[in-house]
Amino acid sequence: MADSSIMNQTGPISFNKKRPGSDEFDHDNLGLTKKTSMNNPSIISWEDPAGSLAKCRHEFGEHGGVNMSIEASATFTVMEPETMGRMFNGELGPDRDFFIYSRHFNPTVLNLSRQLAALEGTEAAYCTASGMSAIASILMQLCSSGGHVVASRTLYGGTHALLSHFLPRTCNITTSFVDVRDLDSVKEAIVQGRTNVLYFESISNPTLTVANVPELCRIAHDKGVVVVVDNTFAPMVLSPARLGADVVVHSISKYISGGADIIAGAVCGPASLVNSMMDLHQGTLMLLGPTMNPKVAFELSERIPHLGLRMKEHCNRALAFATRMKKLGLKVIYPGLEEHPDHALLKTLANKDYGFGGILCVDMETEERANRLMNILQNFAQFGFMAVSLGYYETLMSCSGSSTSSELNPDEKALAGISPGLVRMSIGYVGTLEQKWSQLEKALSMVHDFGLAHKN
Ligand SMILES: Cc1ncc(COP(=O)(O)O)c(C=O)c1O
Repeated sequence: MADSSIMNQTGPISFNKKRPGSDEFDHDNLGLTKKTSMNNPSIISWEDPAGSLAKCRHEFGEHGGVNMSIEASATFTVMEPETMGRMFNGELGPDRDFFIYSRHFNPTVLNLSRQLAALEGTEAAYCTASGMSAIASILMQLCSSGGHVVASRTLYGGTHALLSHFLPRTCNITTSFVDVRDLDSVKEAIVQGRTNVLYFESISNPTLTVANVPELCRIAHDKGVVVVVDNTFAPMVLSPARLGADVVVHSISKYISGGADIIAGAVCGPASLVNSMMDLHQGTLMLLGPTMNPKVAFELSERIPHLGLRMKEHCNRALAFATRMKKLGLKVIYPGLEEHPDHALLKTLANKDYGFGGILCVDMETEERANRLMNILQNFAQFGFMAVSLGYYETLMSCSGSSTSSELNPDEKALAGISPGLVRMSIGYVGTLEQKWSQLEKALSMVHDFGLAHKN
């Protein structure tokens, strides 16, 4: 599609719009003219994500309901036969309430996407069926066969496998993995004219290193490279696009969902890029079809307004537990602790008052010790669940080396700093803090009896 589409509609309110007699419904009064907010400073300026979410247009339901209606249709009618051709040639699009088919834009998914764009301070966004499909789609959109990515060595195992195995085999797209804390090595790895993308996680899975987003963007942009940042670990806490990133991707399955009941993802970035992903001839979203179900989009839209509150409590609890666990002599990794090597950096980059992230790691040094700790925490102390994933209201624990980072070979794990005994904990917020702390203390005393505590 040429340029019919725009995902960045803003404005305070959208009432139900019954399609009038003509397909040429003028939406100007709703602030929906094409490209109105391309350079809308309220979108691109530095702003608390909660503030920009509150400014996002509120979609009402068909009957005046305070919640929007779900547009569950796979396909959409037109009033006049000529309209179909005009939609297909890109003349008419979602900016004017013209929809074709829900593998292309869908109104309910578009509404969630507007919220994601507001959250991340990008011009546009579109949501996908999973975080992995968002990541694969943006990388395949930005790189052609023969393309090159420079990526952080410390990435979620699935992304690492996509870059190191899948994309080279299927698309002839190769990746150089680097330590993104070493800015010189990033500079060296970028081959001007060949490298398309610099890819990293804002807070890395599972080692919790914090990326110096502004510096990395400066290096990449100097060489004409697009910066893609996975902000799954730090929604609200960090806003990579406001720090210079071109594209932000999310696994919505984690904090944004918060319920551990939905798999979903998003690509947030410039409207032209998001629109190109829907192109009928070249768009990865349109042609590979990682489509989000509108019913899922509705569910997720209802959870976005309390994301900030949830993040604050995840972060509060994580800081409290990390501080207390450290005092007990455990080897705790948490960027909210002053001794964490990236603490000062995170303080300068983070949005105010959200905290330092809801994940902490405990290094138990061996997998056996890690497994025994998790077993006690789940089965004797009811502190949390042994499960992968994160962002759930209950605490989730997994030994990264043998689970979500198992795609990395032993050398890659060592380079990424993933100890075999690393236990990643996504700290939940159910119960009272003291109740959960006493469960944790009980577990740790049992661990101590087993002689498992780290000896400083
Ligand atoms: C940082 C990060 N990015 C992306 C993904 C993939 O997301 P999804 O499981 O929604 O496909 C994950 C999943 O664990 C992740 O931790």
